[in-house]
Amino acid sequence: MKKTFFYLASAVLLAACSQNPETETLSEDNSTTTVSARRSCPSEEIRAELLKRDAGARERYANIEAVANSFQGKVLADGTVDIPVVVNVLYKTSAENISDARIAEQIAILNADFGGTNTDASKIPTEFSGVKAGDTKVRFHLVKTVRKATTKTKWGTNDAMKKSSTGGIDATTPNSYFNLWIVGNMGGILGYATFPESSGLWNDGVVIAAPYFGKTGATAPYNLGRTATHEVGHYLNLRHIWGDASCGNDLVADTPTQTGANYGKPTYPLYNTCSGTSRSVMFMNYMDYVDDAAMFMFSAGQKVRAQSVLTSTGARSGLRVY
Ligand code: ARG
Ligand code: ZN
Ligand code: CA
Repeated sequence: MKKTFFYLASAVLLAACSQNPETETLSEDNSTTTVSARRSCPSEEIRAELLKRDAGARERYANIEAVANSFQGKVLADGTVDIPVVVNVLYKTSAENISDARIAEQIAILNADFGGTNTDASKIPTEFSGVKAGDTKVRFHLVKTVRKATTKTKWGTNDAMKKSSTGGIDATTPNSYFNLWIVGNMGGILGYATFPESSGLWNDGVVIAAPYFGKTGATAPYNLGRTATHEVGHYLNLRHIWGDASCGNDLVADTPTQTGANYGKPTYPLYNTCSGTSRSVMFMNYMDYVDDAAMFMFSAGQKVRAQSVLTSTGARSGLRVY
């Protein structure tokens, strides 16, 4: 039964990530990048690859989902979980050597977004205010920043930045610290994440391209620190809200099924029809692909899912601060 679910789910995932063709320009000297307005989803692609080759990860994945589906959403036993963060900065130019102030700003954005205290939470439509997460009871605090100069101008999604032997920075004990890497440029990719079945592995964590990290000096329309909010959502087991398929399933009941990803700054209300039912979709959710200024909420169901990996027996229990 579990197995059947897994094979079905992975088939969906494997099929999903190639849907958004992406245009990307990189000039001769590697200095300019035009990021397509259509976002792309390397996190699910990376998960699918891991599950394909690693039986242990497949088993952890099945267990995480079993726990997520039975978790009742009680407040975590020790109240709020304050996740310790290690920021690893790989820089070629001084602009890529993100300042301590901008790192603090990004941590503050994560705390506001996960705490439901983001100022734009006031824009949540009345229709969705009953299912908003409010405070997810997840917080973040910076433990240390590791910096390393590099000659590399462009990074991919092959995790090279996570190993010193490939020019990166080794993760600091990924079982007990949330590792975040900042790299100068990943072409059209703003960032990517590993899901909880990667918990504690050498490559576990989130990568963000410097122009989309923090706020001050970041590049519009991805300059409100929400790439980190979105990727940390994945790190805590949240799926894309459209389920990476046409009318797909994000395994969260209170996020309305939608036909696909949304981009830019959609106007509310936006209706989609799936299986003959028309619904107003929650494009303002952090797990959609809209611009930073157009996303400002998690749902109550997403909160429960994220919390379930942080309980004392959850896949990411190593992050709990006692
Ligand atoms: N992994 C996605 C990408 O690279 C992140 C999208 C985040 N969206 C945002 N508005 N910041 O495109
Ligand atoms: Zn994503
Ligand atoms: Ca849903």
